[in-house]
Amino acid sequence: MIAAMAAERVIGTGDGIPWHLPRDQEHFRAYAAGKAMLLGRRTYEEMIGWFTTQTPIVLTRDSEQTLEGTPCLVTSVEAAIEAAQDLGVNELVVSGGAQVYAAALASADSLVLTIVDAEVEGAARFPEFRDSGDWHCRESERHAADAENVYAMEFQWWKREAPWNAR
Ligand SMILES: NC(=O)c1ccc[n+]([C@@H]2O[C@H](COP(=O)([O-])OP(=O)(O)OC[C@H]3O[C@@H](n4cnc5c(N)ncnc54)[C@H](OP(=O)(O)O)[C@@H]3O)[C@@H](O)[C@H]2O)c1
Repeated sequence: MIAAMAAERVIGTGDGIPWHLPRDQEHFRAYAAGKAMLLGRRTYEEMIGWFTTQTPIVLTRDSEQTLEGTPCLVTSVEAAIEAAQDLGVNELVVSGGAQVYAAALASADSLVLTIVDAEVEGAARFPEFRDSGDWHCRESERHAADAENVYAMEFQWWKREAPWNAR
């Protein structure tokens, strides 16, 4: 899973991300390049026009709906994993929003997190992942604020000790 969060694990307002951080956008784009991405229907609709080499898979309860760009629609995380396997990719990047992170956390084996040094209002939050398994931060990289990026941020790479597919 990949996510950017501020204090209190805030990831968004519900219809957007309350910061503009080009460094994090670049990091996200580079990580997702060429991969299958799992997105909630709401986040997918926010991101229409963003996709280039990525293949979006959209989680929804209404698989009959028609979305712009006609992405692959799935109604469960398990079906998303199967869809990614059918595409022949070896990584499905869970890319939010809050409902999808919560639904997919139990199946995740790694987290790529950006911790944004900011306190912002927002109803959408990343789940408290430390309660969900034996997670360890393996690497981190800190970046100070600068003219383009108004908040400092830290990129973190987390792994879960027990492989998700062993459960
Ligand atoms: N900071 C970050 O890294 C980051 C990343 C991504 C998004 N965000 C932010 O997160 C917010 C959106 O998050 P959100 O939680 O409101 O929406 P979301 O997770 O993007 O999408 C919610 C939708 O996904 C579908 N869904 C959710 N759980 C499901 C399940 N268990 N089974 C089947 N379908 C399911 C439903 O679609 P239907 O209604 O079609 O049934 C639901 O309405 C925005 O503010 C966005 O900007 C932040």
